[in-house]
Amino acid sequence: MSNNQKLYGALAEFDNVDSIVAAAKECRDRGFRKWDVHTPFPVHGMDDAMGVRPTILPWLVLIGGFAGLSIAVLMQWWMNAVDYPFKISGKPFFGLPAATPVAFELTVLIASLTAVFGMLALNGLPKWFNPLFRVKRFSRACNDRFYIVVEGTDGTFDAKETPAFLESLGAIAVETVPLPDESEKLPAGVVRFAWVFTSLVLLPPALLYAARNSTSSTPRVHLVPNMDFQAKYKTQTASPLFEDGRAMRLDPSGTVARGELDFHGSFMTGKEDNGDWVTELPVPATLATMERGRERFDIYCATCHGYAGRGDGPIHQRASQLALSGQAIWVTPTNLTEQRIVDQPFGQVVNSITEGINTMPGYRQQIPAKDRWAIAYYLRALQHAQK
Ligand code: HEC
Repeated sequence: MSNNQKLYGALAEFDNVDSIVAAAKECRDRGFRKWDVHTPFPVHGMDDAMGVRPTILPWLVLIGGFAGLSIAVLMQWWMNAVDYPFKISGKPFFGLPAATPVAFELTVLIASLTAVFGMLALNGLPKWFNPLFRVKRFSRACNDRFYIVVEGTDGTFDAKETPAFLESLGAIAVETVPLPDESEKLPAGVVRFAWVFTSLVLLPPALLYAARNSTSSTPRVHLVPNMDFQAKYKTQTASPLFEDGRAMRLDPSGTVARGELDFHGSFMTGKEDNGDWVTELPVPATLATMERGRERFDIYCATCHGYAGRGDGPIHQRASQLALSGQAIWVTPTNLTEQRIVDQPFGQVVNSITEGINTMPGYRQQIPAKDRWAIAYYLRALQHAQK
Protein backbone atom coordinates (compact mmCIF):
# COMPACT_ATOMS: atom_id res chain seq x y z
CA MET A 1 0.00 0.00 0.00
CA SER A 2 2.81 2.41 0.89
CA ASN A 3 4.04 2.84 -2.67
CA ASN A 4 0.44 3.21 -3.89
CA GLN A 5 0.12 6.51 -2.11
CA LYS A 6 2.60 8.22 -4.33
CA LEU A 7 0.80 7.05 -7.45
CA TYR A 8 -2.24 8.75 -8.91
CA GLY A 9 -2.91 5.56 -10.87
CA ALA A 10 -2.07 3.49 -13.92
CA LEU A 11 -2.79 4.65 -17.46
CA ALA A 12 -3.23 2.27 -20.39
CA GLU A 13 -3.36 3.45 -23.99
CA PHE A 14 -5.34 1.66 -26.69
CA ASP A 15 -5.44 2.40 -30.39
CA ASN A 16 -8.91 1.32 -31.42
CA VAL A 17 -12.49 1.23 -30.26
CA ASP A 18 -12.93 -2.54 -30.19
CA SER A 19 -9.98 -3.13 -27.91
CA ILE A 20 -10.98 -0.34 -25.49
CA VAL A 21 -14.52 -1.70 -25.21
CA ALA A 22 -13.21 -5.23 -24.60
CA ALA A 23 -10.69 -3.92 -22.08
CA ALA A 24 -13.36 -1.90 -20.27
CA LYS A 25 -15.45 -5.06 -19.88
CA GLU A 26 -12.46 -6.86 -18.38
CA CYS A 27 -11.86 -4.02 -15.93
CA ARG A 28 -15.52 -4.01 -14.99
CA ASP A 29 -15.50 -7.75 -14.36
CA ARG A 30 -12.34 -7.50 -12.33
CA GLY A 31 -14.26 -5.24 -9.96
CA PHE A 32 -12.38 -1.95 -10.21
CA ARG A 33 -14.36 0.91 -8.68
CA LYS A 34 -12.14 3.96 -9.12
CA TRP A 35 -11.37 3.87 -12.77
CA ASP A 36 -12.37 5.65 -15.93
CA VAL A 37 -12.18 5.54 -19.70
CA HIS A 38 -11.17 8.52 -21.85
CA THR A 39 -12.01 8.54 -25.54
CA PRO A 40 -11.86 11.27 -28.19
CA PHE A 41 -15.54 10.70 -29.03
CA PRO A 42 -18.53 9.00 -27.41
CA VAL A 43 -18.23 5.24 -27.79
CA HIS A 44 -21.45 3.30 -28.16
CA GLY A 45 -21.99 0.66 -25.54
CA MET A 46 -19.26 2.06 -23.30
CA ASP A 47 -21.66 2.64 -20.40
CA ASP A 48 -22.60 -1.02 -20.45
CA ALA A 49 -19.03 -2.12 -20.91
CA MET A 50 -18.01 -0.07 -17.88
CA GLY A 51 -21.03 -1.11 -15.86
CA VAL A 52 -21.94 2.53 -15.24
CA ARG A 53 -25.05 2.65 -13.12
CA PRO A 54 -27.78 5.25 -13.59
CA THR A 55 -27.14 8.48 -11.73
CA ILE A 56 -29.24 9.51 -8.74
CA LEU A 57 -29.55 13.00 -10.22
CA PRO A 58 -33.17 12.53 -11.43
CA TRP A 59 -34.19 11.66 -7.88
CA LEU A 60 -32.45 14.74 -6.55
CA VAL A 61 -34.27 16.83 -9.16
CA LEU A 62 -37.57 15.24 -8.13
CA ILE A 63 -36.90 16.11 -4.49
CA GLY A 64 -35.92 19.66 -5.50
CA GLY A 65 -39.13 20.01 -7.48
CA PHE A 66 -41.29 18.79 -4.61
CA ALA A 67 -39.45 21.07 -2.22
CA GLY A 68 -40.15 24.05 -4.51
CA LEU A 69 -43.79 23.07 -4.86
CA SER A 70 -44.41 22.69 -1.16
CA ILE A 71 -42.45 25.81 -0.22
CA ALA A 72 -44.50 27.86 -2.70
CA VAL A 73 -47.87 26.50 -1.61
CA LEU A 74 -47.08 26.72 2.11
CA MET A 75 -45.61 30.19 1.75
CA GLN A 76 -48.67 31.55 -0.07
CA TRP A 77 -51.07 29.83 2.30
CA TRP A 78 -49.20 31.19 5.32
CA MET A 79 -48.94 34.73 4.02
CA ASN A 80 -52.46 35.04 2.59
CA ALA A 81 -54.56 32.95 4.92
CA VAL A 82 -52.71 33.04 8.24
CA ASP A 83 -50.24 35.85 8.67
CA TYR A 84 -52.02 38.65 6.81
CA PRO A 85 -55.53 37.61 5.78
CA PHE A 86 -57.02 40.30 3.57
CA LYS A 87 -60.45 39.97 2.00
CA ILE A 88 -60.44 40.96 -1.68
CA SER A 89 -63.70 40.92 -3.67
CA GLY A 90 -65.12 38.20 -1.42
CA LYS A 91 -62.56 35.67 -2.67
CA PRO A 92 -61.20 32.96 -0.37
CA PHE A 93 -58.00 33.85 1.45
CA PHE A 94 -56.19 30.92 -0.11
CA GLY A 95 -57.06 29.19 -3.37
CA LEU A 96 -55.08 26.76 -5.51
CA PRO A 97 -55.79 28.52 -8.84
CA ALA A 98 -54.26 31.76 -7.60
CA ALA A 99 -51.34 29.93 -6.01
CA THR A 100 -50.55 27.86 -9.10
CA PRO A 101 -48.32 30.27 -11.05
CA VAL A 102 -45.96 30.85 -8.13
CA ALA A 103 -45.99 27.15 -7.24
CA PHE A 104 -45.14 26.28 -10.84
CA GLU A 105 -42.33 28.82 -11.00
CA LEU A 106 -40.74 27.72 -7.75
CA THR A 107 -41.03 24.04 -8.70
CA VAL A 108 -39.21 24.67 -11.96
CA LEU A 109 -36.67 26.99 -10.33
CA ILE A 110 -35.53 24.68 -7.56
CA ALA A 111 -35.71 21.57 -9.77
CA SER A 112 -33.53 23.16 -12.44
CA LEU A 113 -31.04 24.60 -9.94
CA THR A 114 -30.78 21.12 -8.40
CA ALA A 115 -30.17 19.67 -11.87
CA VAL A 116 -27.33 22.08 -12.67
CA PHE A 117 -25.58 22.25 -9.31
CA GLY A 118 -26.30 18.58 -8.52
CA MET A 119 -24.65 17.59 -11.80
CA LEU A 120 -21.61 19.74 -10.97
CA ALA A 121 -21.39 18.40 -7.43
CA LEU A 122 -21.80 14.73 -8.41
CA ASN A 123 -19.08 15.16 -11.03
CA GLY A 124 -16.78 16.86 -8.54
CA LEU A 125 -16.68 19.99 -10.67
CA PRO A 126 -15.24 22.53 -11.00
CA LYS A 127 -11.86 20.83 -10.91
CA TRP A 128 -8.90 22.80 -12.17
CA PHE A 129 -6.30 20.09 -12.32
CA ASN A 130 -5.95 16.40 -12.94
CA PRO A 131 -2.58 14.60 -12.67
CA LEU A 132 -3.31 13.08 -16.09
CA PHE A 133 -2.69 16.51 -17.60
CA ARG A 134 1.01 15.95 -16.83
CA VAL A 135 1.18 12.78 -18.93
CA LYS A 136 2.39 13.67 -22.38
CA ARG A 137 0.75 10.79 -24.24
CA PHE A 138 -2.60 11.55 -22.63
CA SER A 139 -3.09 14.61 -24.86
CA ARG A 140 -4.06 12.21 -27.64
CA ALA A 141 -7.24 11.42 -25.68
CA CYS A 142 -8.68 14.39 -27.58
CA ASN A 143 -7.42 13.10 -30.87
CA ASP A 144 -7.00 9.42 -31.83
CA ARG A 145 -6.19 7.30 -28.79
CA PHE A 146 -8.25 5.60 -26.07
CA TYR A 147 -7.26 5.38 -22.42
CA ILE A 148 -8.15 3.48 -19.31
CA VAL A 149 -6.98 4.88 -16.01
CA VAL A 150 -7.22 2.90 -12.77
CA GLU A 151 -6.76 5.17 -9.79
CA GLY A 152 -4.44 4.41 -6.89
CA THR A 153 -7.28 4.92 -4.43
CA ASP A 154 -9.08 1.86 -5.84
CA GLY A 155 -9.05 -0.84 -3.19
CA THR A 156 -7.67 -3.50 -5.51
CA PHE A 157 -4.96 -1.34 -7.03
CA ASP A 158 -1.47 -2.67 -6.92
CA ALA A 159 1.51 -0.79 -8.28
CA LYS A 160 2.86 -3.86 -10.06
CA GLU A 161 -0.12 -6.05 -10.74
CA THR A 162 -2.54 -3.48 -12.10
CA PRO A 163 -0.25 -2.18 -14.87
CA ALA A 164 0.53 -5.79 -15.79
CA PHE A 165 -3.17 -6.57 -15.95
CA LEU A 166 -3.83 -3.54 -18.17
CA GLU A 167 -0.99 -4.64 -20.43
CA SER A 168 -2.59 -8.06 -20.75
CA LEU A 169 -5.76 -6.44 -22.09
CA GLY A 170 -3.93 -5.43 -25.26
CA ALA A 171 -2.84 -1.92 -24.36
CA ILE A 172 -0.19 -0.51 -26.67
CA ALA A 173 1.39 1.32 -23.73
CA VAL A 174 0.95 1.35 -19.97
CA GLU A 175 2.48 3.83 -17.56
CA THR A 176 2.03 4.78 -13.93
CA VAL A 177 1.03 8.35 -13.17
CA PRO A 178 2.68 9.97 -10.16
CA LEU A 179 0.75 12.19 -7.78
CA PRO A 180 1.79 15.82 -8.05
CA ASP A 181 4.64 16.52 -5.64
CA GLU A 182 3.21 18.23 -2.55
CA SER A 183 6.33 20.34 -2.22
CA GLU A 184 5.84 21.72 -5.70
CA LYS A 185 5.26 25.46 -5.49
CA LEU A 186 3.29 27.86 -7.61
CA PRO A 187 5.53 30.16 -9.68
CA ALA A 188 6.68 33.06 -7.52
CA GLY A 189 5.12 35.59 -9.89
CA VAL A 190 1.69 34.02 -9.52
CA VAL A 191 1.96 34.01 -5.72
CA ARG A 192 3.06 37.64 -5.66
CA PHE A 193 0.26 38.67 -7.98
CA ALA A 194 -2.30 36.86 -5.82
CA TRP A 195 -1.08 38.66 -2.70
CA VAL A 196 -1.09 42.10 -4.31
CA PHE A 197 -4.46 41.50 -5.97
CA THR A 198 -6.10 40.24 -2.79
CA SER A 199 -4.80 43.19 -0.79
CA LEU A 200 -6.05 45.63 -3.41
CA VAL A 201 -9.46 43.98 -3.46
CA LEU A 202 -9.72 44.26 0.33
CA LEU A 203 -8.71 47.90 0.33
CA PRO A 204 -12.01 49.57 -0.71
CA PRO A 205 -14.20 47.65 1.80
CA ALA A 206 -11.62 48.37 4.51
CA LEU A 207 -11.74 52.10 3.70
CA LEU A 208 -15.55 52.03 3.65
CA TYR A 209 -15.61 50.27 7.00
CA ALA A 210 -13.25 52.81 8.51
CA ALA A 211 -15.30 55.69 7.11
CA ARG A 212 -18.55 54.31 8.50
CA ASN A 213 -17.12 53.82 11.97
CA SER A 214 -15.19 57.02 12.53
CA THR A 215 -16.13 60.60 13.22
CA SER A 216 -14.70 63.57 11.47
CA SER A 217 -15.28 67.30 11.54
CA THR A 218 -15.16 67.53 7.75
CA PRO A 219 -18.17 66.35 5.78
CA ARG A 220 -17.89 62.95 4.15
CA VAL A 221 -17.21 62.59 0.47
CA HIS A 222 -20.62 62.81 -1.16
CA LEU A 223 -20.26 61.68 -4.76
CA VAL A 224 -23.81 62.36 -5.94
CA PRO A 225 -25.04 65.46 -4.14
CA ASN A 226 -28.51 65.58 -5.73
CA MET A 227 -30.40 68.07 -3.55
CA ASP A 228 -29.06 66.70 -0.27
CA PHE A 229 -27.47 69.96 0.84
CA GLN A 230 -29.58 73.09 0.63
CA ALA A 231 -29.39 76.45 2.31
CA LYS A 232 -32.65 76.23 4.20
CA TYR A 233 -34.20 76.41 7.65
CA LYS A 234 -35.32 73.26 9.33
CA THR A 235 -38.36 73.03 11.60
CA GLN A 236 -38.15 74.69 15.03
CA THR A 237 -34.93 76.58 14.26
CA ALA A 238 -34.08 80.21 14.85
CA SER A 239 -33.72 82.88 12.22
CA PRO A 240 -32.32 86.37 12.70
CA LEU A 241 -34.40 87.59 9.75
CA PHE A 242 -37.61 88.03 11.72
CA GLU A 243 -38.37 90.06 14.79
CA ASP A 244 -39.68 87.11 16.79
CA GLY A 245 -36.57 85.08 15.86
CA ARG A 246 -38.53 82.12 14.51
CA ALA A 247 -37.72 80.49 11.19
CA MET A 248 -41.23 78.91 11.10
CA ARG A 249 -43.77 81.56 10.13
CA LEU A 250 -47.43 81.65 11.04
CA ASP A 251 -50.02 81.55 8.24
CA PRO A 252 -51.23 85.00 7.18
CA SER A 253 -54.58 85.60 8.85
CA GLY A 254 -57.54 84.41 6.80
CA THR A 255 -55.60 81.59 5.11
CA VAL A 256 -57.77 78.68 4.04
CA ALA A 257 -56.15 75.28 3.59
CA ARG A 258 -56.55 73.56 0.25
CA GLY A 259 -59.95 71.91 -0.13
CA GLU A 260 -61.26 73.54 3.04
CA LEU A 261 -62.92 76.41 1.16
CA ASP A 262 -65.83 74.04 0.63
CA PHE A 263 -66.97 74.46 4.22
CA HIS A 264 -68.00 78.00 3.72
CA GLY A 265 -71.10 79.51 2.25
CA SER A 266 -74.68 78.29 2.02
CA PHE A 267 -74.07 77.02 -1.52
CA MET A 268 -71.57 74.52 -0.13
CA THR A 269 -73.38 73.54 3.06
CA GLY A 270 -77.06 74.15 2.35
CA LYS A 271 -77.17 76.24 5.53
CA GLU A 272 -77.73 79.98 5.88
CA ASP A 273 -75.38 81.97 8.09
CA ASN A 274 -78.06 82.06 10.82
CA GLY A 275 -78.29 78.24 10.75
CA ASP A 276 -81.57 77.97 8.79
CA TRP A 277 -81.77 75.50 5.88
CA VAL A 278 -81.72 76.98 2.41
CA THR A 279 -85.24 76.58 0.97
CA GLU A 280 -84.78 78.13 -2.47
CA LEU A 281 -82.90 76.17 -5.14
CA PRO A 282 -79.73 78.23 -5.94
CA VAL A 283 -79.32 76.51 -9.31
CA PRO A 284 -81.67 77.00 -12.29
CA ALA A 285 -84.76 74.79 -11.88
CA THR A 286 -84.57 73.52 -15.45
CA LEU A 287 -84.96 70.20 -17.21
CA ALA A 288 -81.16 70.12 -17.69
CA THR A 289 -80.65 70.38 -13.90
CA MET A 290 -83.24 67.67 -13.35
CA GLU A 291 -81.55 65.36 -15.87
CA ARG A 292 -78.16 66.01 -14.33
CA GLY A 293 -79.60 65.31 -10.90
CA ARG A 294 -81.11 62.02 -12.05
CA GLU A 295 -77.84 60.94 -13.64
CA ARG A 296 -75.81 61.76 -10.48
CA PHE A 297 -78.43 60.19 -8.21
CA ASP A 298 -78.38 56.97 -10.23
CA ILE A 299 -74.58 56.91 -10.02
CA TYR A 300 -73.99 57.90 -6.42
CA CYS A 301 -77.14 57.24 -4.44
CA ALA A 302 -79.11 54.44 -6.13
CA THR A 303 -76.54 51.82 -5.08
CA CYS A 304 -77.87 52.13 -1.51
CA HIS A 305 -81.13 54.02 -1.72
CA GLY A 306 -82.37 52.30 -4.89
CA TYR A 307 -83.35 53.92 -8.19
CA ALA A 308 -86.74 54.87 -6.75
CA GLY A 309 -85.17 56.09 -3.50
CA ARG A 310 -86.97 53.53 -1.34
CA GLY A 311 -83.80 52.47 0.47
CA ASP A 312 -83.53 49.07 -1.28
CA GLY A 313 -80.47 49.41 -3.55
CA PRO A 314 -78.20 46.44 -4.37
CA ILE A 315 -75.65 47.32 -1.68
CA HIS A 316 -78.44 47.28 0.85
CA GLN A 317 -79.63 43.89 -0.33
CA ARG A 318 -76.18 42.34 -0.21
CA ALA A 319 -75.25 43.97 3.09
CA SER A 320 -78.44 42.94 4.83
CA GLN A 321 -77.81 39.35 3.69
CA LEU A 322 -74.34 39.49 5.24
CA ALA A 323 -75.82 41.11 8.33
CA LEU A 324 -78.19 38.17 8.71
CA SER A 325 -75.28 35.75 8.94
CA GLY A 326 -73.46 38.09 11.29
CA GLN A 327 -70.78 39.04 8.75
CA ALA A 328 -71.63 42.75 8.66
CA ILE A 329 -73.29 45.46 10.64
CA TRP A 330 -75.72 47.33 8.44
CA VAL A 331 -78.08 50.22 8.94
CA THR A 332 -80.90 50.27 6.39
CA PRO A 333 -80.62 53.30 4.09
CA THR A 334 -83.45 55.74 4.66
CA ASN A 335 -86.48 55.51 2.41
CA LEU A 336 -86.11 58.90 0.75
CA THR A 337 -89.80 59.06 -0.19
CA GLU A 338 -91.03 58.95 3.39
CA GLN A 339 -92.77 62.06 4.68
CA ARG A 340 -89.95 63.10 7.04
CA ILE A 341 -87.57 63.44 4.08
CA VAL A 342 -90.24 64.96 1.80
CA ASP A 343 -90.61 67.72 4.37
CA GLN A 344 -86.91 68.48 4.38
CA PRO A 345 -85.86 71.72 2.63
CA PHE A 346 -83.37 71.48 -0.29
CA GLY A 347 -80.61 72.75 1.96
CA GLN A 348 -80.99 69.93 4.45
CA VAL A 349 -80.72 67.24 1.75
CA VAL A 350 -77.68 68.98 0.28
CA ASN A 351 -76.19 69.08 3.76
CA SER A 352 -76.76 65.34 4.22
CA ILE A 353 -75.00 64.67 0.90
CA THR A 354 -72.12 67.02 1.76
CA GLU A 355 -71.42 66.00 5.32
CA GLY A 356 -73.01 62.55 5.39
CA ILE A 357 -75.58 61.70 8.02
CA ASN A 358 -75.21 59.26 10.90
CA THR A 359 -73.83 56.12 9.21
CA MET A 360 -74.00 57.46 5.65
CA PRO A 361 -70.65 58.88 4.48
CA GLY A 362 -70.30 62.42 3.09
CA TYR A 363 -69.99 62.94 -0.63
CA ARG A 364 -68.18 66.31 -0.55
CA GLN A 365 -65.14 64.92 -2.36
CA GLN A 366 -67.02 62.98 -5.04
CA ILE A 367 -69.89 65.32 -5.94
CA PRO A 368 -69.33 69.02 -6.68
CA ALA A 369 -71.71 71.45 -4.90
CA LYS A 370 -73.65 72.25 -8.07
CA ASP A 371 -74.46 68.58 -8.60
CA ARG A 372 -75.54 68.16 -4.99
CA TRP A 373 -78.24 70.73 -5.55
CA ALA A 374 -79.24 69.01 -8.78
CA ILE A 375 -79.60 65.74 -6.88
CA ALA A 376 -81.74 67.41 -4.21
CA TYR A 377 -83.90 68.83 -7.00
CA TYR A 378 -84.27 65.43 -8.66
CA LEU A 379 -85.07 63.84 -5.31
CA ARG A 380 -88.00 66.19 -4.99
CA ALA A 381 -89.33 64.93 -8.33
CA LEU A 382 -88.79 61.35 -7.23
CA GLN A 383 -90.83 61.94 -4.09
CA HIS A 384 -93.68 63.63 -5.97
CA ALA A 385 -93.79 60.85 -8.49
CA GLN A 386 -94.45 58.30 -5.77
CA LYS A 387 -97.20 60.06 -3.91
C1 HEC B 1 -73.38 53.54 1.07
C2 HEC B 1 -74.80 53.59 1.04
C3 HEC B 1 -75.42 54.97 0.80
C4 HEC B 1 -75.24 55.78 -0.27
C5 HEC B 1 -74.38 55.53 -1.50
C6 HEC B 1 -76.06 56.93 -0.05
N1 HEC B 1 -76.70 56.82 1.13
FE1 HEC B 1 -78.01 58.12 1.91
N2 HEC B 1 -78.19 57.00 3.54
C7 HEC B 1 -77.60 55.78 3.74
C8 HEC B 1 -77.95 55.27 5.03
C9 HEC B 1 -77.47 53.96 5.63
C10 HEC B 1 -78.78 56.24 5.63
C11 HEC B 1 -79.39 56.18 6.98
C12 HEC B 1 -78.33 56.74 7.93
C13 HEC B 1 -78.72 56.60 9.38
O1 HEC B 1 -79.82 57.05 9.74
O2 HEC B 1 -77.89 56.04 10.10
C14 HEC B 1 -78.91 57.28 4.65
C15 HEC B 1 -79.66 58.40 4.84
C16 HEC B 1 -79.93 59.35 3.88
C17 HEC B 1 -80.84 60.45 4.03
C18 HEC B 1 -81.71 60.76 5.23
C19 HEC B 1 -81.09 61.84 6.05
C20 HEC B 1 -81.92 62.15 7.29
O3 HEC B 1 -82.12 63.31 7.51
O4 HEC B 1 -82.29 61.15 7.96
C21 HEC B 1 -80.81 61.14 2.86
C22 HEC B 1 -81.60 62.41 2.51
C23 HEC B 1 -79.88 60.49 2.00
N3 HEC B 1 -79.36 59.39 2.66
C24 HEC B 1 -79.58 60.90 0.72
C25 HEC B 1 -78.63 60.32 -0.06
C26 HEC B 1 -78.26 60.83 -1.34
C27 HEC B 1 -78.88 62.02 -2.03
C28 HEC B 1 -77.27 60.01 -1.78
C29 HEC B 1 -76.51 60.17 -3.09
C30 HEC B 1 -75.66 61.32 -3.14
C31 HEC B 1 -77.06 58.99 -0.81
N4 HEC B 1 -77.89 59.22 0.23
C32 HEC B 1 -76.13 57.97 -0.93
C33 HEC B 1 -76.76 55.11 2.87
C34 HEC B 1 -76.33 55.63 1.67
